[in-house]
Amino acid sequence: MTSELGRLIARRIALTGPISIADFMSEALGHPRLGYYRRVMPLGAIPLGATGDFTTAPEISQMFGELLGAWLAERWLAMGRPAPVRLVELGPGRGTLMADALRATRAVPGFHAALDLRLVETSAPLRAAQRTALVGFSPAWHERFDEVPAGPLLLIANEFFDALPVRQFHRTAEGWRERMVGLAPDGTLRLALAPGLTPFAAVLPDAQAGAEAEISEAGRALAAAIGARLHQDGGWALIVDYGYDGSTLGSSLQAVRGHRGAGILDRPGETDLSAHVDFAALAAAAGVATFGPVAQGDFLRRLGIARRAHTLKRQASPEQGRVIDAALARLIAPDQMGTLFRVLAMGDNRSAQPAGFSETPSGAT
Ligand SMILES: C[S@@+](CC[C@H](N)C(=O)[O-])C[C@H]1O[C@@H](n2cnc3c(N)ncnc32)[C@H](O)[C@@H]1O
Repeated sequence: MTSELGRLIARRIALTGPISIADFMSEALGHPRLGYYRRVMPLGAIPLGATGDFTTAPEISQMFGELLGAWLAERWLAMGRPAPVRLVELGPGRGTLMADALRATRAVPGFHAALDLRLVETSAPLRAAQRTALVGFSPAWHERFDEVPAGPLLLIANEFFDALPVRQFHRTAEGWRERMVGLAPDGTLRLALAPGLTPFAAVLPDAQAGAEAEISEAGRALAAAIGARLHQDGGWALIVDYGYDGSTLGSSLQAVRGHRGAGILDRPGETDLSAHVDFAALAAAAGVATFGPVAQGDFLRRLGIARRAHTLKRQASPEQGRVIDAALARLIAPDQMGTLFRVLAMGDNRSAQPAGFSETPSGAT
């Protein structure tokens, strides 16, 4: 049994023909009424956290948001303390990362007074959760990054780019063909290759028959828009996500429902879809100075996460201490989030190297 959105997509395909995986993903996640990130869910059913479909770094530990907050405040100082500065978060989820970042930076003189907080979020229930988490900071919400007014920028995005649509390709003996979503004889959704070769072959690597590849046009376009803004108005952006920075081959699109793997076409709108982020493509599209990507574990270690865990544990019960240790391991251990998750910074190239990207402390290069 598919979902209501699955039936709508099937009807569209019956009328106009197969659609790309990117179009399918756009509908499944962003359909105005039924998309996964649009549905009006009861607040308890928000798809993040222990009871939702997945758990993200800021939901694992306050240390994540606190350290990213310190990174942002340091960049603001390096920029010469512009006021106002647009502090933008793409896809803030429950608002946990931003709340932790703001709490950790309230002692930085002038920082909070300079902030103009802008949240790019399409989900109504998540906007409501953000309003609660960030009470006292009067954020403004936007549907898209390009609605954020001009001005010096500090931008952060954790697990946002992985939700942007990707196209998928399969290399046949004749060349690259795009994988599409069409209909099986019984009218249900099914994957099939487009009959002809794809014009995207021009930007795909040479590969043997059987190879797979993905491209996120939406991710590249957004990185280019952020880069253009940084070039024009100055500032810094920090992108954290799971992904890769070398090979552009392979298929990574995955579906998750209730912490379990699901079929990509299963119950659209009720299943999370995400793909690994091609960091080299984002860096190339940005057109400004970039740093990294580096492994999240290295980045957080250089920002002092072990010291922060130690400080928290000093005021904690033994049980709380074990929770802090487990969270630390989850965020930085190579076999957990430490290596798969990568961190990329983009900047206007006018101030010193940001912290976290080499063993040398910031400003000492
Ligand atoms: C995987 S969650 C990550 C949430 C948060 N950053 C965290 O780390 O907990 C993705 C977030 O991006 C939002 N989102 C997804 N696609 C979006 C889009 N196209 N435009 C704006 N927000 C989007 C979701 O509603 C959600 O807040």
